[in-house]
Amino acid sequence: MNQPKAELFKTKYGKWAVITGASSGIGRALANELAAAGLNLVLVARRQAELEQVAKYLSARYGVETRVLAVDLANAPSLTQIEDETKYLDVGLLVAAAGFGTAGNFLDAKLEDELAMMDVNCRAVMQLSLHFGKQFAERGRGGLILFSSLVGYQGTPRAAHYAATKAYIQTLAEALHVELAPRGVDVLSSAPGPVNSGFGARADMKMGAAEKPETVARVTLAALGKKMTVTPGALSKFLTWSLMTAPRGLRVRIMGKIMGGMTKHLNS
Ligand SMILES: NC(=O)c1ccc[n+]([C@@H]2O[C@H](COP(=O)([O-])OP(=O)(O)OC[C@H]3O[C@@H](n4cnc5c(N)ncnc54)[C@H](OP(=O)(O)O)[C@@H]3O)[C@@H](O)[C@H]2O)c1
Repeated sequence: MNQPKAELFKTKYGKWAVITGASSGIGRALANELAAAGLNLVLVARRQAELEQVAKYLSARYGVETRVLAVDLANAPSLTQIEDETKYLDVGLLVAAAGFGTAGNFLDAKLEDELAMMDVNCRAVMQLSLHFGKQFAERGRGGLILFSSLVGYQGTPRAAHYAATKAYIQTLAEALHVELAPRGVDVLSSAPGPVNSGFGARADMKMGAAEKPETVARVTLAALGKKMTVTPGALSKFLTWSLMTAPRGLRVRIMGKIMGGMTKHLNS
């Protein structure tokens, strides 16, 4: 972001941004971009040491203020904690990047993992969007960035529930984009294809060609206030376009084949 753009961005979405998933991948890359634009940051994820490292680096490099909140977003009290600890900060942007996926056959899934995924990917995003969305609407400016995925555009066998959580986010973000626009709040769904981050290891997936988190972060921020949904990066755009040309039923089957091939424990 060049200097004049960064100033505009800060006026619209400053002074503080809350970023979930800031310890790794896309969230960490977004923290870097936002610090470079001069926003102070509340960095949220479970791993305290990683968050502190990010905070130390960004405040030394860009001179911004940071707060670290090491919490598990699968636990409802963590959400109240975020609300409490940001009460006296001038927050203008929520980046809800925390999330994870499970892969494999649905009937082999562990219920507790799936429920935790639903809480992190859906419940936490909805609750934080409601909390910060109200604050932003009251003062007539602000932004919400939510993370959907290419897999959320149709059923995705071998990642059935993960894809369903992302379809939830996609429809939530689309509706909020329209509903909150007259209140001065910009809502964006960022729907990447594969990204080279910590995601693949946690989901037990081998990633082939993938976008860089830095590309996803840069393109996503450039789309805030302009688009309803952004497909960040050339690879994500190409994959989305290729899939969209097929009828939905066929897309589901194609995605099932791709996911089956990417899931490590189904191929060992
Ligand atoms: N990578 C992809 O291919 C891809 C594609 C499309 C969409 N996405 C979406 O993009 C978002 C960012 O993913 P990423 O690729 O950057 O993956 P990542 O590198 O694994 O980062 C995920 C982040 O979420 C945090 N997180 C996970 N579980 C959490 C929990 N229970 N409580 C609090 N924080 C938690 C992690 O931090 P801790 O481990 O420290 O808690 C980490 O900071 C996710 O919503 C993902 O679904 C990713």
